[in-house]
Amino acid sequence: MGVDIAIDLGTSNTRIYVADKGKFLDEPSVVTINLDNDNIVAVGSDAYKMIGRTSQRLSAIEPIVGGVISDFFLVENMIKIQLGKANISRIVKPRVVACIPGDITDVEKRAVVNSILSIGVRNVSLIEASKAAAIGAGLDIRSPHGRMIIDIGGGTTDMAVISLGDISASRSMKLAGNNFDDEIIKYIRRTYNLVIGKVTAEKTKFEIGTVVKPKVNKKIVVKGRNTVTGLPQAIELSSGELAEPLSEIAIAIAQQAQDLLEETPPELVGDIYKDGIVLTGGGCRINGLDQIIRDYVKLDVHIADNPSDCVINGCGYALRYIGQAEIDENGAVNPLSEPY
Ligand SMILES: Nc1ncnc2c1ncn2[C@@H]1O[C@H](COP(=O)(O)OP(=O)(O)OP(=O)(O)O)[C@@H](O)[C@H]1O
Ligand SMILES: [Mg+2]
Repeated sequence: MGVDIAIDLGTSNTRIYVADKGKFLDEPSVVTINLDNDNIVAVGSDAYKMIGRTSQRLSAIEPIVGGVISDFFLVENMIKIQLGKANISRIVKPRVVACIPGDITDVEKRAVVNSILSIGVRNVSLIEASKAAAIGAGLDIRSPHGRMIIDIGGGTTDMAVISLGDISASRSMKLAGNNFDDEIIKYIRRTYNLVIGKVTAEKTKFEIGTVVKPKVNKKIVVKGRNTVTGLPQAIELSSGELAEPLSEIAIAIAQQAQDLLEETPPELVGDIYKDGIVLTGGGCRINGLDQIIRDYVKLDVHIADNPSDCVINGCGYALRYIGQAEIDENGAVNPLSEPY
């Protein structure tokens, strides 16, 4: 028997789940190529380490931008190389469940399907990222009870109200975890005349990033190049000073959540009022984001367990729906698309 697999092609991370085994692979969505001959030199963590450090000959590329494939050739090869590590039999071709952001166009959807079909699988069923996130967070999305989920990834934030296996209202925005990194770069440049790279900005976010005034003001040393002297320089940065510039992104996300609630049918709003909102995705792990959303919409907001893995675990769980009728005897909708 062929083994079925789930794939989450995220802006920041590619995750692969093998049926009955669980998450198998979790690596940055980065490919380094040799510009002389277009050969792939590294993928995943090896390629991530090269961001901002490559020579003129090499380029470290992130081939998924805002949840959408921007370089088909690189994505196809990235999955092939990563799947090679999973040692999956190519003789009995696997069936695949893959997730897609909410507001994707048909052309963008087709690019996801084709890139996965090109690696030699039997077929691909799609699931919206927010549905997968809800399943992975342990919510019973096929019940008539309305649930609200916000998945904040690296490049996209997908939010949805789900009941009976289907999305009843949703919003998708290209504002997510990586925007905090961009904001840290801008803040340090304007305040200290210091230019830092993307990887340093993300590391700074992991260590001291916050969107609310922190209880304890943590300090770290950040190194970069002074824009005036052109020389290397180190500065001391405290978490307290990041709260205000980073809070704007958090407020913009909270505002979308508020707009989504306004267009949600009243019965479902009642359910959400009772249960609150669940946050998933790596982007929700920045300090205080749950608090900002809670204060803004005046509802309970919980961060799911292992938020970064909810989408891939949900895709993996959804493997069991492959081949089932669209609507079952209880009237619940199969969360997967017809296989391509
Ligand atoms: N501990 C943490 N604190 C703050 N941010 C974090 C943390 N861990 C991960 N992130 C951020 O989460 C984002 C990646 O999240 P995730 O892996 O869910 O994204 P993705 O699925 O690849 O992207 P998308 O769903 O947008 O296509 C990155 O911006 C990363 O910096
Ligand atoms: Mg994601």
